Amino acid sequence: MEERIVSGEAQGQEDWEERSLRPQSLSQYIGQKTVKENLTVFIEAARMREECLDHVLLYGPPGLGKTTLAMIIANEMGVNLRTTSGPAIERPGDLAAVLTALEPGDVLFIDEIHRLNRSVEEVLYPAMEDYFLDIVIGKGPSARSVRLDLPPFTLVGATTRAGMLSAPLRDRFGVVSRLEYYTPSELEEIVERTAEVMDVKTDKKAAEEVSRRSRGTPRIANRILRRVRDFAQVRGDGTIDYAITSEALDLLQVDKLGLDHIDHKLLRNIIDKFRGGPVGLDTIAATIGEEAHTIEDVYEPYLMQIGFLQRTPRGRMVTPLVYQHFNMEVPER
Ligand SMILES: Nc1ncnc2c1ncn2[C@@H]1O[C@H](COP(=O)(O)OP(=O)(O)O)[C@@H](O)[C@H]1O
Ligand SMILES: [Mg+2]
Repeated sequence: MEERIVSGEAQGQEDWEERSLRPQSLSQYIGQKTVKENLTVFIEAARMREECLDHVLLYGPPGLGKTTLAMIIANEMGVNLRTTSGPAIERPGDLAAVLTALEPGDVLFIDEIHRLNRSVEEVLYPAMEDYFLDIVIGKGPSARSVRLDLPPFTLVGATTRAGMLSAPLRDRFGVVSRLEYYTPSELEEIVERTAEVMDVKTDKKAAEEVSRRSRGTPRIANRILRRVRDFAQVRGDGTIDYAITSEALDLLQVDKLGLDHIDHKLLRNIIDKFRGGPVGLDTIAATIGEEAHTIEDVYEPYLMQIGFLQRTPRGRMVTPLVYQHFNMEVPER
């Protein structure tokens, strides 16, 4: 997969900064009003009853704050957070090891929960419902099933696509919350907060510009701000103003709407090779050299949100807005 400057998980040196950027409490968590209001009530109620919080499923595109919210839930409940992911739990025994190590009330965060395999999922059901595990020890005639009691815990699952979760698993979450793309003014607040944590000066116009060009996504806003800070340091006096911001974003090939070279490649491809579509996802994937599920999880949701891309039964289609964005004539259909 091609490297994308404005997406992906933080790496190496950016790691500790990434951690310090994460809001620690619901009150610091900007935007997502409905999700926040609901969680605030559920957390308070659980605390009043001295019970653990019901299982929570968070879904939505990458970089919108699912992992952050899982950490906040554990913080607000005053319990430990244990983190794992769907692909990391290969066998029922792996899950048993994780679950039996929990302390009462702990939050277990399973990222990419849609990637749990079936045999693991089946062990998870009774654990979620009644806090016990039925695991089979041994093979063949000597195999026997052992029941293990578990401490009460809260499972927080995160996924980019709720549709890929099996129905029985989805039904076992008491709270299901969908994270939305952030509005420009919410992102601006996030950018200002990030600038403060990074101890750099930004002016309002610069913060607005970063917000406008971050595809509604805090992770992207934070990444862009880091890159703009580099430009400000090397080419300016360290202050992030509008001029340096828009120069940096142009050099990073992030356009006025926040679309980058991969978005461009995807859209141009549909226009140039398939006359605007409809064209199947797998065909697009093959022609631009990206994986179909990456296109579906990472690139498409925002393009659909801004009305650039449509899903039809016969495939993906670009809309007239795309031609306008590229200063092209809208073809007759
Ligand atoms: N509501 C928010 N307010 C402030 N910063 C946020 C918010 N949501 C996400 N972020 C920032 O964006 C980054 C990505 O969030 P993350 O929780 O890792 O997203 P996800 O798990 O959904 O991919 C985090 O490092 C955090 O700093
Ligand atoms: Mg995450």
